[in-house]
Amino acid sequence: MARHCKIAFVRELSSWIQKNARENSPQTATFHVTITIIFCFTVAFFVIVLAMFVNHRISKMMVLEEYYYPNQLVSPCSPCNAGRLFSDISVPSIGRSGTRTDLKEWIAPTEIWHSMSDGELMWRASMVPGIVAYPYDRRAKLAFMFLSRGRLPLAPLWELFFKGHDDLFTIYLHTSPNSTDEPLPSSVFYKRRIPSKVVEWGKATMVDAERRLLANALLDFSNERFILLSEACIPLFNFPTIYSYLFNSNHSYVGSFDDPRSTGRGRYNMRMWPTISISDWRKGSQWFEVGRKLAVRIVSDIEFYPVLRDHCRRPCYMDEHYVATLVAKLGADLNSNRSVTWVDWSRPGPHPATFWRKDVNEEFLSRLRAQRNCSYNGIEGSICFLFARKFHASTLQPLMRIASSLLGFNESQAI
Ligand SMILES: *[C@@H]1O[C@H](CO)[C@@H](O)[C@H](O)[C@H]1NC(C)=O
Ligand SMILES: *[C@@H]1O[C@H](CO)[C@@H](O)[C@H](O)[C@H]1NC(C)=O
Ligand SMILES: *[C@@H]1O[C@H](CO)[C@@H](O)[C@H](O)[C@H]1NC(C)=O
Ligand SMILES: *[C@@H]1O[C@H](CO)[C@@H](O)[C@H](O)[C@H]1NC(C)=O
Ligand SMILES: *[C@@H]1O[C@H](CO)[C@@H](O)[C@H](O)[C@H]1NC(C)=O
Repeated sequence: MARHCKIAFVRELSSWIQKNARENSPQTATFHVTITIIFCFTVAFFVIVLAMFVNHRISKMMVLEEYYYPNQLVSPCSPCNAGRLFSDISVPSIGRSGTRTDLKEWIAPTEIWHSMSDGELMWRASMVPGIVAYPYDRRAKLAFMFLSRGRLPLAPLWELFFKGHDDLFTIYLHTSPNSTDEPLPSSVFYKRRIPSKVVEWGKATMVDAERRLLANALLDFSNERFILLSEACIPLFNFPTIYSYLFNSNHSYVGSFDDPRSTGRGRYNMRMWPTISISDWRKGSQWFEVGRKLAVRIVSDIEFYPVLRDHCRRPCYMDEHYVATLVAKLGADLNSNRSVTWVDWSRPGPHPATFWRKDVNEEFLSRLRAQRNCSYNGIEGSICFLFARKFHASTLQPLMRIASSLLGFNESQAI
């Protein structure tokens, strides 16, 4: 259109010049031609400047659009789609990073560190797929969740335990937020720390840490069973034994019982009514083992948590009652009501017994492993405990010495 006008204009101009040249003197004609040429150049200059300006504005608009929607796979919004003119320019942002469409990164994040708040994390972890069957070959894993102050004093024993089973477990470490200790890249604990907060013994922050661990572990859809362990825990059997024990079980292992004494029912607070009644009130070891279904229920709980946080205060210890009571209320049919972590409460006092270097020998560990008066999938007489606590750091040396023979860490062992 513009070009057509221009051509017509130039044609008209030249015929006018020729007509004038014929009619007037050569001087006047030369003057007219000069003026016309100058006029044409001026017009051309303006056209070029205008074109450059318009071009600049358009490219700036495209840059802004990419800035607002950096990895957007689809066009940002339908009103923008009206500008189909530019669609061929904005499309290159498709597939630039590729991470959004990669199912692997979604179902099993490789990087466990994140900047989500606890509220955001619980919400994200509470999601359950609507389609039950997994669209990929899923290798179910055990999630080992360690609640620790800093580095694990018995880490070498655990390294031995995990060795050779890389694709069957994941590790999550909740430490003091001040801890900057990072093990060597060859360690199974390398980069397995989750964003942690301060934990106080016997307080709600302890339960927060447990839920934080569960939520982080739930983000990986390969994790099927979730084991909470302390820095003073040791495994009593080798990895294949523990794996098959838990995966072949129909139940979770959360200690949950009704303790009629002052250390049980005595800790119930009337203000918990009506959310929790005295007949709902349970006690149990904080060191639980749960399946995925129960784990989701624990991180999704917004009903019981605030009640216990507000009304379970010393001498009520929230970590001994929260999960035990919650599971009895929301998943009693899924629970065995016993813990698989052995602990010695035979001595009086608020803390269980700690074992030192001198206490650890083959005979002692054999005794813990030999307890078989437990029910497993409804059948009596199976292994009771898979883990034990509390083992002081000084027990590492004797434990390492007897580990390969007694615990059979490099041989597969049937139950
Ligand atoms: C962490 O460090 C801060 C300041 O460095 C200190 O005030 C706080 O007590 C430390 N917390 C723990 C749990 O060590
Ligand atoms: C565990 O205890 C609950 C009551 O809290 C009960 O309903 C359930 O049957 C018990 N489970 C087993 C396996 O005994
Ligand atoms: C197994 O039996 C021993 C001794 O009879 C008892 O001390 C222990 O509590 C029992 N364990 C379980 C889980 O019932
Ligand atoms: C455990 O689950 C299996 C498979 O679902 C089932 O065959 C078995 O009867 C269950 N056992 C008990 C004790 O519920
Ligand atoms: C354990 O592993 C070591 C070396 O890897 C090997 O020499 C030893 O025979 C193994 N023990 C058993 C019982 O398999």
